[in-house]
Amino acid sequence: MSTETVQSDTRAPGQLIDQRGRAELEFVVALRTGMTSALRSQVRRRIEESGVLPQDTTDIVALRAAVDPVVEATAAHRFQAATLRWSREIQTPRGVEAFDRRREFFESLATPAGQVVDVAGDDVPRYWTYEFHATEGGWDGHDHMGFVHHEMVYHYLLTKIYGGGGDIFALRRKFADKAPKESYSSIVDLGCGTGQYTLKLAEAYPEATIVGLDLSASEVNYAQRRTEDADLTGRVEFRRAAAEKTGLPDGSADLVTSYILLHEMPPHAIKAVFAEAFRLLEPGGHVHFGDVGAYETRSGYDAWNDDWDAEHGNEPWWRLAATTDIAEIAREVGFVDVERYELLPGGHPMGTTARKPEGA
Ligand SMILES: C[S@@+](CC[C@H](N)C(=O)[O-])C[C@H]1O[C@@H](n2cnc3c(N)ncnc32)[C@H](O)[C@@H]1O
Repeated sequence: MSTETVQSDTRAPGQLIDQRGRAELEFVVALRTGMTSALRSQVRRRIEESGVLPQDTTDIVALRAAVDPVVEATAAHRFQAATLRWSREIQTPRGVEAFDRRREFFESLATPAGQVVDVAGDDVPRYWTYEFHATEGGWDGHDHMGFVHHEMVYHYLLTKIYGGGGDIFALRRKFADKAPKESYSSIVDLGCGTGQYTLKLAEAYPEATIVGLDLSASEVNYAQRRTEDADLTGRVEFRRAAAEKTGLPDGSADLVTSYILLHEMPPHAIKAVFAEAFRLLEPGGHVHFGDVGAYETRSGYDAWNDDWDAEHGNEPWWRLAATTDIAEIAREVGFVDVERYELLPGGHPMGTTARKPEGA
């Protein structure tokens, strides 16, 4: 196979899955687009017509206690819940099997030329080893899980399930643009995954150097590969490290940012991440974290739906992230000018920005 083919193929890996893999993933798409979304609308109507939704969404336990008995009494809900659970359980294993059937070829797309620095070694927090999103074996359950999860399964499925056809990650660029200053020179992207947000940061702040870090070896390896393909070597680098223990020097960044990292960790770790960001920032520098919307800002149905979905989609910390006072955590750590905002009204993500005071 010529190099040219490999490079152009890299842009649409979902299309390169063999026929069996495509058929299996198409079946998941059909379950999610046809069946579950139609049932979901029925369930929503049932909840809204029942009159049990409270105006105040701050008490999620009370909200669930009011709504769950209504939905559990409907066949539509039980059926869509089972379909959703099953489709989530099968999607990553099908991607892994499709990768392994054409391992030699996919490996050529998913392996970086350069080495990624490993700061974390075996020092991995216990919460990180949970099997998030029903991913068998967790974030590193396969030696190329970063590629399989984000580029094969997510890219292929989500583009079809949520439409858009093109850049399903465009929101990341919109969020990158919302950092408080027009330009930054040294940016750290915590929990960078396969570098989807890191690359948007590189577009938004062309004068900045960027360090992306994540605990998943397979994710940072693929992020590194993606950066090499985008000719960003030297300006963007990756390391395998915990967001709360980056190993980077004090005061070495003017922006510390993350996109959908915080809801993957318990509140004590969120606080440790803010404290690490404070240490990394020079005085006057900013944090800019985008994550799940707080339940108190959501409609009754959306708060119920987020919480139900998190419970049934292997998101163990989502509820805590959506009910913890993140602004208060930022202030406790020493940040000032703390602000929370919705990037899109009523939707995800919710941004938190704050400044490290001069002289701190
Ligand atoms: C939902 S993904 C988001 C990835 C990326 N920011 C993006 O926008 O595509 C969350 C990532 O956080 C990483 N993660 C979770 N806890 C972490 C921690 N304590 N330190 C570093 N990375 C962590 C996971 O490995 C995963 O890659």
